[in-house]
Amino acid sequence: MLNFELYNPTNYVFGKGQIAKLSDLVPKNTKILLAYGGGSIFKNGVYDQVKAALPDIEMIEFSGIEPNPRYETLMKAVEIIREQNIGFILAVGGGSVIDGVKFISAAVKFDGNPMDILKKRILLKDVTQVIPFGTVLTLPATGSEMNSGSVITINETQEKLSFGGSALFPKFSICDPTVIESLPKRQIQNGVVDAFTHVMEQYLTYQHDALLQDRIAESILQTLVEIGPGVVENPTDYKLASNYMWCATMALNGLLNKGVPTDWATHMIGHELTALYEIDHARSLAIIGPNLYRVMFDTKKDKLAQFGERVFGIQGNSVEEKAEKAIEKTVDFLHTMGMLTKLSENTADYEKTADFIVNRFEERGWKALGEKQNITPEKVRAIVEMSY
Ligand code: NZQ
Ligand code: ZN
Repeated sequence: MLNFELYNPTNYVFGKGQIAKLSDLVPKNTKILLAYGGGSIFKNGVYDQVKAALPDIEMIEFSGIEPNPRYETLMKAVEIIREQNIGFILAVGGGSVIDGVKFISAAVKFDGNPMDILKKRILLKDVTQVIPFGTVLTLPATGSEMNSGSVITINETQEKLSFGGSALFPKFSICDPTVIESLPKRQIQNGVVDAFTHVMEQYLTYQHDALLQDRIAESILQTLVEIGPGVVENPTDYKLASNYMWCATMALNGLLNKGVPTDWATHMIGHELTALYEIDHARSLAIIGPNLYRVMFDTKKDKLAQFGERVFGIQGNSVEEKAEKAIEKTVDFLHTMGMLTKLSENTADYEKTADFIVNRFEERGWKALGEKQNITPEKVRAIVEMSY
């Protein structure tokens, strides 16, 4: 097992009716920015629950953080915080709102051009240099409620860039599984697939000694396969909803990657599809993931076979046979979850995608991705072209 440090200061508050606990969680005598997205919180009662929990708190509202949050939008909130002497941010929404708030939190006191946080991928470690924030999660998917990462899109350059650092863990996250009742089916499908892929990025690498990590990863994958189709159809089923929400958090709260190699190339390529064509994050992963496993078959086949046996109960006469069946089962699962796994099914305008992505990665110096740093630009090209 590799050496590791495990640090996670987020107070994770889970369950029905927990939004009422906000009054104990937010700081007293501090002006708060209440940040949210396009207004779903008004339709499903989450806004009313937040307001009811915080009757005496001075709050300024900032609405309109879009899916795949935009730098340009977030900078408006940065100005408001600087002008209004706001000391705490409450993010109410899905991964986009929470990620957006992480950027706002980092940018307010940033000494320099805040765009550099993204372009230079500045690590934020000093909690005195960020505005503290908490979250009320409304969409289980990203794990952003319990991690310190964030992904922001710059409109001007059509780039989707990630950043983070230990100063950017939420102080608390309230995770009430009943919030999923109002989610469109598409978003629940996305959430399950995003969580599934987060586990795969940290698990589907090569054989190593971290036995417990493998078993934890496999149990999350198995649970997602077990509950995924059902929770899309029955979001009011609390057993399904609560397991879905906890799986999504556990998939990317910093536990699974401890002591193991990780990949993340599916995400890196997928982000480009979203930046180019506005394909939902999870859907970009469903297009790329299986083809990455195919192109990187030699590197990943042992782990694919293990995954197939333990998660899907696959049998076969050779590692290769089991590994191939595991990829097919994964694609079947993605289809069951409503994913269209070809780029051409998601956008009409795809022929130059591989050129574009390869050029961009080369410009950024990303020449060696993946757990063995063997996903070269040629491999990226092969993966993207196979995804057409
Ligand atoms: O904007 P509102 O009105 O809130 O509507 C949202 C949005 O339209 C809606 N929604 C959210 N909760 C709802 C709801 N509608 C009805 N009822 C509810 N309870 O759902 C739509 C999508 O929301 P969004 O926040 O964009 O989705 P998601 O949580 O999937 O977040 C995706 C973003 O997170 C990033 C992605 O790249 C993408 O930008 N990621 C963040 C990560 C992280 N911080 O660790 C890791 C991930 O890999 C991912 O990259
Ligand atoms: Zn993701």
